[in-house]
Amino acid sequence: MNSELDQEQLQLPYHRRSSRYHHKRMVDLGVKIFSKPKAACSYFILLILTFILGYLSHSQPLLSRASQDIIFHNTFSSDQCAAPVSSANVRQTIIDRVFNGISPWQGFPSEHVRPLLWQEWTKGWGSNAPVFEHLITQVQPKTIIEVGTFLGASATHMAGLTKKMGLDTQIICLDDFRGWPGYYDEEKSMKMLNGDTMLLYQFMQNVVKANATDSIMFLPFSTATALGGMCDWGVYGDLVEIDAAHDFHSAWVDINIAFKLVRPGGVIFGHDYMWEGVRNAVHSFARINGFRVRIDGEHWILY
Ligand SMILES: C[S@@+](CC[C@H](N)C(=O)[O-])C[C@H]1O[C@@H](n2cnc3c(N)ncnc32)[C@H](O)[C@@H]1O
Repeated sequence: MNSELDQEQLQLPYHRRSSRYHHKRMVDLGVKIFSKPKAACSYFILLILTFILGYLSHSQPLLSRASQDIIFHNTFSSDQCAAPVSSANVRQTIIDRVFNGISPWQGFPSEHVRPLLWQEWTKGWGSNAPVFEHLITQVQPKTIIEVGTFLGASATHMAGLTKKMGLDTQIICLDDFRGWPGYYDEEKSMKMLNGDTMLLYQFMQNVVKANATDSIMFLPFSTATALGGMCDWGVYGDLVEIDAAHDFHSAWVDINIAFKLVRPGGVIFGHDYMWEGVRNAVHSFARINGFRVRIDGEHWILY
């Protein structure tokens, strides 16, 4: 089958053969391969595999620079929280760190606040739901951390339950006691003092009324800041409840930081599963960390 050109060129060393000869050889090879469907198919598979391997082993990661930045900074306070203080010292640690060693219950209510408070005025959402009794019975917590407390309806309910069960439990309430923008429009029954809606004081009054000051302590800060402080001080909870703001970002941050404060064998749960932001944050967290989500009424539980 070799033409005259082939015969001539074959006499020459490889590098001295003409480009016309090389071109013709390539065309012949192509014709050979594509005239055999099996070989053509293998050639394509090999080509695709080479492309995929090249893509995967490329030195640039698959995530965009922006995604990498977000993941890198997505640390939510220290990598590891401080060594735990004993459950018996949790209350005093907060009194020392937050209130300069003086219990906020001491001398409450002060004279300027007393006339502005309702003897008892409370409000809650699912604050007495069966989930509290279910989880307190299951976990027998020494410390409960509540992220989002408002007027203390769920906190005082939990205090009642733990007392009824004979447990010696501290409930640590985290709230900035600001409610939410526009909140005062809905709650005109509360009086205002120099622009302050008195939420903190009415919460304290409700705890006094429930006879629960010995088992409830609080941190009047934003949830992320308060959780960060507790992480630094080694204050952990056996039961951690998330019920502050319900947009995705707030719920996501609260769940991520609060999870660091769950003692081994403890449980993290929260309210308002029906809110889209909360639901998305819960499921994203569960997926990333290998949990499953159980629903109890309007509450979610990670297990
Ligand atoms: C739904 S209420 C809590 C209700 C309470 N768990 C109950 O059942 O009685 C939400 C509370 O979260 C608080 N909150 C919302 N976002 C917060 C944040 N970023 N830091 C601190 N508190 C916040 C609000 O002030 C409000 O009191």
